[in-house]
Amino acid sequence: MKLISGTANQALATGIADVLDVPITSVDIKRFRDQEIFVRINENVRGEDIFLIQSTAAPANDHLMELLITIDALVRASAKRITAVIPYFGYARQDRKTGGRTPISAKLVANLISKAGADRVLTMDLHAGQIQGFFDIPTDNLFGQPVFEKDIKENFSRKERNKLLFVSPDTGGVVRTRSLAKMFDSDIAIVDKRRPKAGESEVMNIIGDVKDRNCILLDDIIDSGGTLCNAAQALMDQGAASVSAYITHGVLSDPAVERITNSIMSEVVITDTISQPDAVKKCDKIREVSVSTLLGEAIRRIANDESVSKLFG
Ligand code: R5P
Repeated sequence: MKLISGTANQALATGIADVLDVPITSVDIKRFRDQEIFVRINENVRGEDIFLIQSTAAPANDHLMELLITIDALVRASAKRITAVIPYFGYARQDRKTGGRTPISAKLVANLISKAGADRVLTMDLHAGQIQGFFDIPTDNLFGQPVFEKDIKENFSRKERNKLLFVSPDTGGVVRTRSLAKMFDSDIAIVDKRRPKAGESEVMNIIGDVKDRNCILLDDIIDSGGTLCNAAQALMDQGAASVSAYITHGVLSDPAVERITNSIMSEVVITDTISQPDAVKKCDKIREVSVSTLLGEAIRRIANDESVSKLFG
């Protein structure tokens, strides 16, 4: 097995390499003056089982192109099998036509990755599970749930856990929320969210009794922070005792950090699928938990032809 990392999240790749006790293969990734990307793999990869780690987070197009070009370099270098490990799969929210004459970009990106020569995809908390079907190659979609479950057990006292309520910030996240709530024998509530236009969110209603409960909002993505901060405020207005959040992918576009800082939430926990700038690292209300062990174990299982679903019980 060989591990290769793109430039999107080298800290996570190093974490995965440590878990697997496998070094990261040396690669040169350079830019020409006009910003075209050039990749050279510095070791022989002929006949190797390759795991190429690259999240397609911002700048999404650059990171995606880097992924495609690296896959092409590996194909031409006669790698035996290439698994594109994409901890955060960008473009996932464009998974259907939202109006006339609009694209399904998630499908286009899936086609590009397969056409470039990837044999498998390993990703995490896809915005919609059905996106797996956009790929005509095997696609494993891991869940951040066990990482969150462990963190909640470590950070909430038994007394606080007795009053937990898991909240989905929109109807799309209900299955994910119910699944984590089950681990704590807890109820769920659902926020009835409306998007008057792209990038804006409005809370219409809360379904469920949130009074005096320690609410945990659960989502796959936090982008501008609007969905989460509006939902948190609505929960507090309805008498919640506290609100915190667990989110897999911290996209955190402006003004998310400012919104979180000024929000009534006690804490927002994100994973390290996306590399974060200093402004996020310095924010007292945002804490990062690592998914390197989970990804490392999934890679080990794929390499050894073992079950990946067993990781989730
Ligand atoms: C949408 O359905 C996703 O699950 C997230 O709720 C959304 O992408 C968050 O976006 P924002 O933070 O900009 O409201």
